[in-house]
Amino acid sequence: MTGKPRHMHLFLVIGNVGQHHGAWREPDSGIELADSIDFHAEVAQRAEAAKLDAVFIADHLAMLGREAHAPAQHLEPVTVLSALSMRTESIGLVGSASTTFNEPFNVARQFASLDHLSRGRAGWNIVTSAFGEENFGSDPLPSHASRYERAGEFVEVTKALWRSWDADALAVDRDSGVYARSERVHPINFQGEHLTVSGPLNIPRPPQVHPVLVQAGTSADGMAFASRHAEVVFSAHQGLPMAKRYYDEIKNGAKRLGRDPDSIKVLFGLSPILGDTQKDAEERQRALAGLLNIDYAKQLVAFQLGGIDLTNYDLDEKLPLDVLPDPTTINRRQGRFDLYRQLIEDGETLRRLTEVEATAAGLQVAVGDVERMANEMITYFEAAAADGFILIPPSQRVDGRRLLSEVIPLLQERGYARATYQGTTLREHLGLARP
Ligand SMILES: Cc1cc2nc3c(=O)[nH]c(=O)nc-3n(C[C@H](O)[C@H](O)[C@H](O)COP(=O)(O)O)c2cc1C
Repeated sequence: MTGKPRHMHLFLVIGNVGQHHGAWREPDSGIELADSIDFHAEVAQRAEAAKLDAVFIADHLAMLGREAHAPAQHLEPVTVLSALSMRTESIGLVGSASTTFNEPFNVARQFASLDHLSRGRAGWNIVTSAFGEENFGSDPLPSHASRYERAGEFVEVTKALWRSWDADALAVDRDSGVYARSERVHPINFQGEHLTVSGPLNIPRPPQVHPVLVQAGTSADGMAFASRHAEVVFSAHQGLPMAKRYYDEIKNGAKRLGRDPDSIKVLFGLSPILGDTQKDAEERQRALAGLLNIDYAKQLVAFQLGGIDLTNYDLDEKLPLDVLPDPTTINRRQGRFDLYRQLIEDGETLRRLTEVEATAAGLQVAVGDVERMANEMITYFEAAAADGFILIPPSQRVDGRRLLSEVIPLLQERGYARATYQGTTLREHLGLARP
């Protein structure tokens, strides 16, 4: 041991002009450019200059709520990440794709293509999708348990497809006319409960073999899935004790399955609201809250609480617990329901719930100056509650820029964040073995 701290692993969410539902209304939010490649590339290049492990783009398959009060979610991730592969050199490119509303052959092709185009920088956030079924036919959303069952098979299939070309399958022999050795390209013949896929993939083995597998389950099924399959886990919790408990459960779950706990990196979700001083940052938080469309934020909370009607509840009162449905009936996001139920039990008001939902989609919000933000991150890291962070700035132009140009350099100075890239692939940035 040298006594030097290990590096944090750092992902930055690029989600529209910022995650906060009101931040687009700030004068220089850049909202007019939100759907342009230049906007995405600017954020990714800043993240790369700060030597982050990856940028991340989420994906949702429907508008949440009937009214478009906040900018519509985002462009399709793999498309944007492919374009970013041309505007960046080293940073990882991670995007979500649903296992409920896609076929594994398509997803395997998309991420194999991204991995080839980016020379080994692709990562897939495996999501089971909690809404959007109305856009894929007339069937109801499958049950939470069956979505995770299908996801398990889906991942087995995609991994088998990515490995369906052996490492030495390519011959590229112009003289004999043999491009690939056919005996080194294998069908997968997968037959499961939910999926039947013959293979092989029609793309040679990706540079990382498997693009890095990411997941963010908080329910029991979600955590079991993460412990088995994930190489990076996003942790969506409030406060150090909950973050620590989740971290230990994921690592122990992996250990029980015979995995090295270090082969799964837990990144704690953090939304930084930054100011010159603590007082400035708190002022900024209040200003952002003032930009929220509160009725829309209430609709989102109502949705996360199982679709209850909150229109007649006062924002500054505690919600009674008995308005909540039985937790066993929650078929969409169980983790988010549990979080909000806990906040209600703790005596939080409906206003506070709307702010948690509309600022950072249930992730931890941290408010402070640059020094305090760096210290907060170091505290979680040193307490072994996180191997790093998934950073989700309320505004890219304000907090995101400051995060990258001030907080990360401070962490680098103190030896907690990398100052140069050592490897070239996302796997190498994360210290993950090749499968
Ligand atoms: C940082 C982060 C990013 C996420 N990105 C997506 C996404 O892009 N699409 C999606 O449908 N769900 C996304 N989720 C939700 C998770 O995939 C998962 O559904 C949620 O954490 C609830 O888990 P549970 O179903 O195990 O309760 C994300 C969660 C977190 C914490």
